[in-house]
Amino acid sequence: MTEKITALVTGANRGLGKQLAIELVARGAKVYAAARRPETVDLPGVIPIQLDITDPASVRRAARIAADVTVLVNNAGVSTRANLLIGPIEDVRLEMETHYFGTLNVIRAFAPIIEGNGGGAILNVLSVLSWLHPHTSGAYASAKAAAWALTDAVREELAPRGVSVSALHVGYMDTDMVTYIPADQKTDPAVVARLAVDGVLDGAPEIIADDISRHAKAALSDTRGGEGAAPSSRA
Ligand SMILES: NC(=O)c1ccc[n+]([C@@H]2O[C@H](COP(=O)([O-])OP(=O)(O)OC[C@H]3O[C@@H](n4cnc5c(N)ncnc54)[C@H](OP(=O)(O)O)[C@@H]3O)[C@@H](O)[C@H]2O)c1
Repeated sequence: MTEKITALVTGANRGLGKQLAIELVARGAKVYAAARRPETVDLPGVIPIQLDITDPASVRRAARIAADVTVLVNNAGVSTRANLLIGPIEDVRLEMETHYFGTLNVIRAFAPIIEGNGGGAILNVLSVLSWLHPHTSGAYASAKAAAWALTDAVREELAPRGVSVSALHVGYMDTDMVTYIPADQKTDPAVVARLAVDGVLDGAPEIIADDISRHAKAALSDTRGGEGAAPSSRA
């Protein structure tokens, strides 16, 4: 993709989303920095826009305003660390409402816009936990696995309409989401953002940002379980 890009990044006020917005601006893109509270966007060179991905009215409003988008980055996410059997069911629902239905809401609103603007790309920020499903993050992993399936299905649906769909898989990043993890186990989100933008602009179906994700993918066909199979405690 070489033409001038107009991108919208969800959850662009902090964490990986902020770094993705910075990276896109650095590459000359026009960037809508979408956030539930747009007043918390403190980036120069972006257009803050209100967007709660779980609120259909908010999504419709954002789609009316950002009608020139050619690249959509579905980054917004939550991690409740709820366990499926005894965790609060509201948390289990929140994970699914955000990662699965929220991402789908935004894609349904923006895919026709991107197509109408001559085609473009969508990036879904997934996780190594789309592939590994530890019980300690059962709600999150289930929702990310569902978002992975969604990503594959919409990729097929949108390919003939000139819209590529990329998935980003990553383990721990140094953001508010995983403050409980030691720093030496986390990747700099700015590094991940660079890799992700390279991938989405190349139309890569899958962007694997770190070794833990590479190992998890390689272990998907490993049927042994237990020791020797994929590690099972990533965020
Ligand atoms: N950090 C990691 O180790 C890690 C690993 C793998 C994948 N990921 C994924 O990376 C993405 C970014 O996470 P992060 O690490 O940057 O987390 P973060 O620092 O906690 O940021 C999460 C962002 O998502 C926004 N958000 C949450 N719910 C939203 C909603 N309903 N509508 C709109 N925005 C919403 C938050 O907005 P508010 O400021 O309003 O809360 C915030 O901007 C997520 O999809 C996450 O699952 C993270």
